[in-house]
Amino acid sequence: MSARLDLDLPDAPGEGDAADGLLPRRSPACTMVIFGGGGDLTRRLLVPAIYNLVGAELLDESFSIVAVDWSDLDSDGLRRQLGETMRTFVAQRSASAVMLQEDRWDWLSQRISFLRGGFDDPMTYQALSSVCGVGNCVFYLAVAARFFAPIVGQLEAAGLTRETETRFRRVVVEKPFGSDLASARALNAQLRNALDESQIYRIDHYLGKETVQNILALRFSNGFFEPLWNRQNIDHVQITAAETVGVETRGRFYETTGALRDMVPNHIMQLLAMMAMEAPSSFDADAVRDEKSKVLSAVHRLDPGDIVRGQYSAGHIAGRAMSGYREEADVAPDSGAETFVAMKLRIDNWRWAGVPFYVRTGKRLAQRKTEIAIHFKQAPYALFRETPVEKLTPNIMVLQIQPSEGVTMQFSAKVPGPTVKLGGVRMKFDYADWFQEDPSTGYETLIYDCLIGDATLFQRADNVEAGWGVVQPALDAWADDAAMPPCPLQFYPAGKAGPAAADALLARDGRHWLRLNG
Ligand code: BG6
Repeated sequence: MSARLDLDLPDAPGEGDAADGLLPRRSPACTMVIFGGGGDLTRRLLVPAIYNLVGAELLDESFSIVAVDWSDLDSDGLRRQLGETMRTFVAQRSASAVMLQEDRWDWLSQRISFLRGGFDDPMTYQALSSVCGVGNCVFYLAVAARFFAPIVGQLEAAGLTRETETRFRRVVVEKPFGSDLASARALNAQLRNALDESQIYRIDHYLGKETVQNILALRFSNGFFEPLWNRQNIDHVQITAAETVGVETRGRFYETTGALRDMVPNHIMQLLAMMAMEAPSSFDADAVRDEKSKVLSAVHRLDPGDIVRGQYSAGHIAGRAMSGYREEADVAPDSGAETFVAMKLRIDNWRWAGVPFYVRTGKRLAQRKTEIAIHFKQAPYALFRETPVEKLTPNIMVLQIQPSEGVTMQFSAKVPGPTVKLGGVRMKFDYADWFQEDPSTGYETLIYDCLIGDATLFQRADNVEAGWGVVQPALDAWADDAAMPPCPLQFYPAGKAGPAAADALLARDGRHWLRLNG
């Protein structure tokens, strides 16, 4: 992560990709043990990401993968399956792999083996002990959350988590880290019974996104943003994570999870922390995570009156008819799960007191768009007779995270002509114009950082708990039927910008959301 932040900007578009001159080092020798190695995450994301690391020459010669699963497979069968998936990605021109170089794939696939075994069976761990020997190991838990604690307990019992002067042992955990504050605390306590915090790498895949990492680079490597980045100059902030997809095949998961748990304590809180944290004293993992922790603990616990929850009904997206959430597979016909939330958050510190952070996230919305829009305060006085102050173009800086990646600034300029009249204009920086992006699943940096022991982009226990702490009052209110009236479920047709109540949330403060197309 630190090398990526050491930017050396080129003179002209197109020269950026070759500019930094810093060669990342190869990771140390390591065996990566993937629990759930026969599953979807391994096939779709982990192996393509590791393949991309092979291409970037970032793995040690002796790197190897042991996939642990109880499915009926062997090493040859697994390699064949993985190879087929990689070829499909290439054929579909997926962003994760645009070309399959056979020599690269051979290099990787001959280092992959399969170990058949149950996650709760001590024999599995005995077998792993002989595979891991005395070397470095990363244990990647690509499994359902209910297996996290049992696997870590078994690893510890088999002595596999013990580190020495000459070997590291790390465990990677994917979200969900609990389903509320109490269960997140309990999970952290279970993990820490067996592991030191420095051995735990909690992945939030948003932190693998280049443009999310770029928020820190933008803020802290340029002189002109930071002086404006405070309550004196910023009116409010809007964070949007809008998707056009529905719940797809995950109805069962979503029924007990909903949009709030799925997106807010984790991804949205990470975006908010990157946007709002103070400058760390260095880009060391703990310096960055200490600052995140400070800002997250300054976020006011959510007032249940400041959250709107919605659920999509039938509608249209891009001319195609979409069914409502309650008609999706594995969803109850009277489901109360929310597929949309909008909320107003406040941060109690010197930099942000009085600046609302409005957040919205949901599925089957009008447009796929993840962005942070910083709305600056109006100029205090319009000098221009033809343009009264209330007609000045709002000054907005938008950090676009996906699908297009870049920064847009909106401000006023003089309209050509004999009278002094102002019109709104936009200045736009597109990532793709300046930097050539390698194929990426978003997991490359995260896996590489774990191998080299850089935890900057991973969530620490206190960050996770602070995120849950913010949303817990809404979870409590929703669980309590008597408190339902302040936050009833609002319906919105698929393809729209969410329920009208989300607009009302801002309108009561005299503000409105930036438009989602449609
Ligand atoms: C996942 C959620 O963590 O993030 C999904 O479980 C959501 O429901 C996804 O679709 C969004 O990620 P991205 O990278 O597509 O914005």
